[in-house]
Amino acid sequence: MSIDPAIVAEPVQRSPLRVPQHLGVIMDGNGRWATARGKRRTEGHVEGVKSLRKMVELCITYGVGHLTVFSFSSENWSRPREEVSFIFNLLRRFVASDLQRLIRNNVQVRIIGSRDGLEPSLVRLIEDVEAKTAGNTGLVLVVAFNYGGKAEIAEATRRIAREVAAGRLSADDIDETTIEAALYTAGLPDPDLIIRTSGEQRISNFLLWQAAYAEFVFVDEHWPDFDEASFVRVLETFSQRDRRYGGIGTEQS
Ligand code: IPE
Ligand code: IPE
Ligand code: MG
Repeated sequence: MSIDPAIVAEPVQRSPLRVPQHLGVIMDGNGRWATARGKRRTEGHVEGVKSLRKMVELCITYGVGHLTVFSFSSENWSRPREEVSFIFNLLRRFVASDLQRLIRNNVQVRIIGSRDGLEPSLVRLIEDVEAKTAGNTGLVLVVAFNYGGKAEIAEATRRIAREVAAGRLSADDIDETTIEAALYTAGLPDPDLIIRTSGEQRISNFLLWQAAYAEFVFVDEHWPDFDEASFVRVLETFSQRDRRYGGIGTEQS
C-alpha cells in the first residue's frame, strides 16, 4: 500500500531547546511522595536518590554543563534525628555505589556547604570523591550538602574580613568579584535556571547570591516523580523566557 504524501502529517516544527549552562535543582517533596503512598518518609529519600541518578544522566545527554542539587540544607537539622542520620547515610551510600559510574561518565563532583560539625570520616569521604573526580572534564555535579546561602555569605564575609585584618586586602577594593571568589561556588558560573519540585514556590536559602538572575521554574511533581518528560517540559518553559538582566530584552530591541 502506498501512502499519499499529502496526508502524511508534517512533523511539528519545534524551536530548539535552550539548555542551561548551569542548572540548579531544589529536590523537594520526597517526604510527601512517601506519605501519599503509605510509606515512611525515608523511603521517599531513597526514591529521591534514584531520581538524582536519572537527572545526572539527563544532564549528560542534553549537554548541561553544571548541575547543582540541593540535598541537605543547614535548616534541615531541625528534622527528627533519625531522618537526619538516614539522609547522611544516604549520601555515604550514594558515593559508595555511584563513584565508579560517575568516573566512567567523566563527571566532576564538588560538594558545597559547611564542613564544620560533620564527622571526620564524612569529610574524608567528601574530599576523596572530589579528588578522584577532579580531573574529569564532563558534567560538573555540585552537591549542596549542609548548605545554606546565608551561612555561605557569612563564611565568605569572615574570610574577606580576615584578609583585610591581615593587611592583604583593602576594604575599598572589595567588589562583587572578591565576594564571588570567597563563596563555596568560586569558579562556577551562576545558575541560569533553578527548578523546584513539589509545588512549593520559595528559595529556602539555596544559592542566594548566585541566583540573582536565574530563571525559576516550579513544578508540581514530587522529586521522585520527576522524569525525562518533566525535564523536557521545564526546558521548553526555560527556552521561552526572555532574560533581560535589567535591559529591555530581545523582543523590543
Ligand atoms: C526534599 O524532600 C529532601 C530534603 C529536604 C532532604 P523533603 O524531605 O523536604 O520532602 P517534603 O517536602 O517533606 O515532602
Ligand atoms: C529545601 O527543602 C532543602 C532541600 C531540598 C534539601 P525543604 O523541604 O527543607 O524546604 P522548606 O522547609 O519546605 O522551605
Ligand atoms: Mg520539603
